[in-house]
Parts: sequence; C-alpha cells; structure tokens
Amino acid sequence: MNPDIEPVPDYKANAFDYLTTAVVVLDASQRVCAMNQAAEDLFGVSEQRATGANLRDYLQEDAHIGFASLSQLFLSRQPVTRRGAIITMRDGLQIKADVTIGFDPIGGNAIIELAPLNRLLRINREDQVLSSRKTVQALTRGLAHEVKNPLGGLRGAAQLLEKELAAYPALQEYTQVIINEADRLSSLVDRMLGPNQQPHLQAVNVHKVLEHVIRLIDAEMPDRITFNRDYDPSLPELIADEAQLIQAILNILRNAAEMFEESTTSNPTVLLRTRIVRSFTIGNQRHRLVVQIDIVDNGPGIDEDLQQRIFFPMISNRVGGTGLGLAITQNIVGQHRGVIECESEPGNTCFTVFLPVEAPENE
Ligand SMILES: Nc1ncnc2c1ncn2[C@@H]1O[C@H](COP(=O)(O)OP(=O)(O)OP(=O)(O)O)[C@@H](O)[C@H]1O
Ligand SMILES: [Mg+2]
Repeated sequence: MNPDIEPVPDYKANAFDYLTTAVVVLDASQRVCAMNQAAEDLFGVSEQRATGANLRDYLQEDAHIGFASLSQLFLSRQPVTRRGAIITMRDGLQIKADVTIGFDPIGGNAIIELAPLNRLLRINREDQVLSSRKTVQALTRGLAHEVKNPLGGLRGAAQLLEKELAAYPALQEYTQVIINEADRLSSLVDRMLGPNQQPHLQAVNVHKVLEHVIRLIDAEMPDRITFNRDYDPSLPELIADEAQLIQAILNILRNAAEMFEESTTSNPTVLLRTRIVRSFTIGNQRHRLVVQIDIVDNGPGIDEDLQQRIFFPMISNRVGGTGLGLAITQNIVGQHRGVIECESEPGNTCFTVFLPVEAPENE
C-alpha cells in the first residue's frame, strides 16, 4: 500500500447512504437493523424508527408478489435474486424492482437490495421526451411570435379598408372574413404562446383543484359522468399557480369528457386518484416528495401511434380540436417541474401528473 495515500475514513459507511439502490439489513429474526437513505425514502420511514421493526410493517401482505416468496427463501438462507418483483408498499403504491437477498455469514444478517425498475427505465425515456418537447415548444413559440406580429397589421388594414368601403356593404363581407380569421388565428397563437404573466405561486390544495375541475365539467355536462375519488388525505400542499393547475387538469378531464361524447361509452366514469411518492426522479433531478395525480377514464382510449405524440402541439384526432389542450397542460406541468405521462388501452386511459412538493426557485 502506498503510504502517501490517506485512506478515506469510513468510506464504505458513507457510500451506503449514497446508493440509489435501497438496502435493508435484517437480523436473524428478520428485524431491521440498518437501512440506507434510499431505503428510508422508499419505505417512507427513518432508519431510527424502522430499527427493530419487522420489514413486513412497511409492505403489504400480498400472496402473489415476489417478496412473499423471497421471505420464504430467506429462511432457507440461500442467496436469491428476483427480477421484476412487484412490491406493494404500506400506502398501496406498487413498485417493480429487482430484489436480491444476500447473507452475511459472520453476523448472520440478511442484506436485501431493492433496485426499483420502473423509475430507472423511465428516467432515460423522460430525458429524451423532455428534451424533444422542449425543442418543439421553442419552435412553436418562435413561430407563434412571428405569426402574431403581422396579424395586428393585417387586421388594422382590413378595418381601414372596411371604412373606405362604407358605400359598398356587399364588399364588407370580405373584409369581415379577413378580420374574423385574423382574430381566430390570434387567439390560437395566444393559446400556443401560453400565459404571459409570471406564475402566481401559493400553497395549493390539490384536492381543491380536482374538485373545482369536476364542478366545471359537471356544469358543462350535468350528471353525465360518474366521478370516483381515491384521494390520499395526507397529501401535502403544493407551492404552485392554482389557476394554471386548474387549467392543466381541466384540459385532461375535458378530453375524457369529449371522448365520452364522441363514443358510445356506457356508464362513463372518471377516477381521480392522488398519492404521495418518495424519491422520484424527473429529468435529471431527484425529488424527495412528489405528488402523483392519476386521471383514469373508461372511454375508447387513444390509438397507440397517437399516444406518443399527443403532448405535442397541433396533434388532434378530434373534429374541431386544435390539438393544443395537452400541449398547454404539459407546458404548465413542466413549469412546475413536473412531468405528465399517459397510458391507454380501450376502456382504460390513464393520465398521470407528477408534481414535486418542494417550492420551485424563482427563475
Ligand atoms: N382521455 C382521452 N381519451 C381518448 N383520446 C384522448 C384522450 N385525451 C386526449 N385524447 C386524444 O389526444 C388528442 C389531443 O388532445 P388535446 O387536448 O391536445 O387536443 P384536442 O382535444 O384535440 O384539442 P383542444 O384541446 O385544443 O381543443 C385528442 O384529439 C384525442 O384524440
Ligand atoms: Mg383537448
């Protein structure tokens, strides 16, 4: 060993906490004797509190999940790995993870490693998705600005012309076409550019936002849709722009409502579910606490080839749709440092919005 190189003190102990894999050490009677930071985040409990507890206190009993059988294997003391095990947390949240149980023959402890898969698989995808969405957004905004400037001139010129044509009412029909189309284009461009004020950040109760949107949709189509709620009452407030969040969720729910109208869905139902998620990565940023909002409808679903593109502007499969609703939603969610995802099959379309709990810094 080179005497000039100072050994890093307690390096291994520190590294334990910096791992993104959750590690739990169990003693011979299957009680927790240590866990790292990633495991604390995953199970939502501090190491101090968990010490001495049974790991099962933090997981739900579920006969068909991998963990139940892994626990049996633990008794046989054979090191095991289960790939893609589905694990149900205490709060009902399910994660897919590669689980490895190893044994420390000297201490007689079991070392459980849980490497959550769904998030890791998604991080790469999200990175790509987020950057391509940003490119498209910059392109549309640039284009919208270019279109907006000459529109004012076009409209003004048509108005002047209309005055000159006061003696020819039949010709005014043409100037009206120009003015009306310029107005239509201008409001389309405004929607593309999005809100031009700074977001008004305040403490926002997510359930209040959801209830508000339900009332709006219900007022548009009274008693047509059944709304089911599965709210986590312990959900923390978000620091967000309430009006923008309402707009974001309204766009999602309105789409579901419009698809119900267009299709022959019997018993149209929307489920609104909220959950708190720990240790969640969005883009390249890891957040300790994230609110998850699922909006699930039993409508006709979204064609698979369309699913990849619905968040881009001008993508629509609906007569009279401008294709901006979800682009606006994605823009608002992005401004709140969140991410939106969609999974769909006929009879089951789920839009999931993830929003970090900590306040965004003013930019
Ligand atoms: N819940 C859903 N069920 C089925 N299809 C959906 C659903 N949500 C969105 N879509 C599809 O995604 C497309 C894009 O939605 P988006 O809200 O961006 O635009 P739009 O509704 O067509 O127009 P706009 O919202 O601007 O009026 C829709 O045209 C529709 O085909
Ligand atoms: Mg829409």
